[in-house]
Amino acid sequence: MKIEGKEYRTIWFENNIVKIIDQTKLPHQFIIKELKTVKDAINAIKVMEVRGAPLIGGTAAYGLALAVQENNDPQFIKKSATELVQSRPTAINLKWAVDRVIKKLTGINSDQLLSIALNEAKKICDEDEKFCENIGINGLKVIEEIYNKKKDTVNILTHCNAGWLATINWGTATSPIYHAHKKGIPVHVWVDETRPRNQGANLTSYELNEEEVPNTIIADNTGGILMQRGEVDMCIVGTDRTLSNGDVCNKIGTYLKALAAHDNNVPFYVALPSSTIDWDIKDAKDIPIEERNSEELSHIEGVDENNQLKKVLIYPNKSKVMNLAFDVTPAKYVTGLITERGITEPSFDSLNKLFK
Ligand code: MRU
Repeated sequence: MKIEGKEYRTIWFENNIVKIIDQTKLPHQFIIKELKTVKDAINAIKVMEVRGAPLIGGTAAYGLALAVQENNDPQFIKKSATELVQSRPTAINLKWAVDRVIKKLTGINSDQLLSIALNEAKKICDEDEKFCENIGINGLKVIEEIYNKKKDTVNILTHCNAGWLATINWGTATSPIYHAHKKGIPVHVWVDETRPRNQGANLTSYELNEEEVPNTIIADNTGGILMQRGEVDMCIVGTDRTLSNGDVCNKIGTYLKALAAHDNNVPFYVALPSSTIDWDIKDAKDIPIEERNSEELSHIEGVDENNQLKKVLIYPNKSKVMNLAFDVTPAKYVTGLITERGITEPSFDSLNKLFK
């Protein structure tokens, strides 16, 4: 997708270096960062220079290739794989991507390891781009249906950033929106700010602006009243881990939006590539929920009058702060899962039929 009119993907490999867009600096600064070692990749995932389930999966795959490039000793590769998987706990894509590369490397001669690792990392990223494009084609049908009935702008609410910046390209939740916009269907997006890291305001609104999709940032607590007023036609969010029973783990606050949508008969869709499905965990209580540094809540970052990034404390400095990063929306509140293979009910039978 575009930034200042130029097409980008969120990650690419060039001259033995992995390149990423540093998302901690957006929307105020556009910086392309170089990852030269597996440690750089692990750090980029931890501090969220890259974030979003599919993109951290792609980064982990390239991170493992960087490990092979540094030192192709099997013990080093194994240790790097473990550290990459542990760099963030909630999104299943990390383990999924690392396992995929490791599987390809098993039993391979040392002189071929690097080309195979790089090849698999590229394949994972290319595949994600295609899957996200297909999610858009499938999700477009829902937006079209609403537009055909309403004959007026379709208002879509989204939470966090499940946009192209969270994937390799297109996004998951945003892909149907981009497809509708490109087709000339009038859409307007309510963008939840998404405290504490403001991925909605800083990233979703930014990328929608760059693609000229009309959008409005709202405080996280505003969605409810907009739904009561009939100003939301549908919600679309992404997910970091979807259980095979259809329960959806996503950015903190998603659950509350789903409850409000349910109470107001607003369809609540979750868009996901199959790489985000966890076929093993059966009970949502077993999903590891990331707890991040309390500074993300107690401090806020922005630019000053000289366009310099600044971080300031906004809470009483003696207050205790808790920063849970994800929550789980039970399947009963999800209208449908928009996947690369089609839209399905959030249930084991439907998911199993589509993917297994
Ligand atoms: O903490 P983040 O910014 O990595 O959280 C991202 C989300 O919650 C997204 O909704 C999810 O990863 C889906 S991305 C297509």
